[in-house]
Amino acid sequence: MFTLQGKTALVTGASRGIGRATAAALARAGAHVLVHYGRSAQEAESLVSEIQAKAGRAEAISADLGTPNGAALLAKQVRAIVGDRLDVLVLNAGISKAARLADYAVADFDNLFATNVRSPFFLVQQLLPILANQPRGMKCSE
Ligand SMILES: NC(=O)c1ccc[n+]([C@@H]2O[C@H](COP(=O)([O-])OP(=O)(O)OC[C@H]3O[C@@H](n4cnc5c(N)ncnc54)[C@H](OP(=O)(O)O)[C@@H]3O)[C@@H](O)[C@H]2O)c1
Repeated sequence: MFTLQGKTALVTGASRGIGRATAAALARAGAHVLVHYGRSAQEAESLVSEIQAKAGRAEAISADLGTPNGAALLAKQVRAIVGDRLDVLVLNAGISKAARLADYAVADFDNLFATNVRSPFFLVQQLLPILANQPRGMKCSE
């Protein structure tokens, strides 16, 4: 049977939607899940409670991934919990803006880029050294 018993997983944007469902599924498979959130603390804590009620392991951690140091702050918290080994990284947190092209402002573009592109890039940079089973040929220093 497929199991993630003894494995650690970080799911960004796990307070709601797809990230929440993913985190719950990883916990059901036995993983120790880090439930990341930005603003929805109550939702994240409720997922942690749901997982723990089923004898799973989970913690909620917060970081605003729209800020320049958000990814580094998140990575620091992750390392404090899991130590030197992270098995699963799900880069799910993201935003969109329902607007016509003509209605986009520079600030909208910068916010989308910071959250959806910059933060996953630097989160991988920060966590690659502790990610288990690194892809063949990929070195932390690259
Ligand atoms: N649903 C779709 O049809 C669809 C289609 C294409 C792509 N996607 C992408 O798939 C991912 C999940 O979609 P979803 O519909 O499940 O999204 P969602 O319900 O809007 O949830 C987004 C998650 O990302 C987190 N997040 C957003 N901005 C953040 C920030 N600055 N810092 C930290 N966390 C932040 C939110 O956390 P808080 O609420 O705690 O702030 C929330 O947990 C997103 O990246 C989305 O762009 C979704």
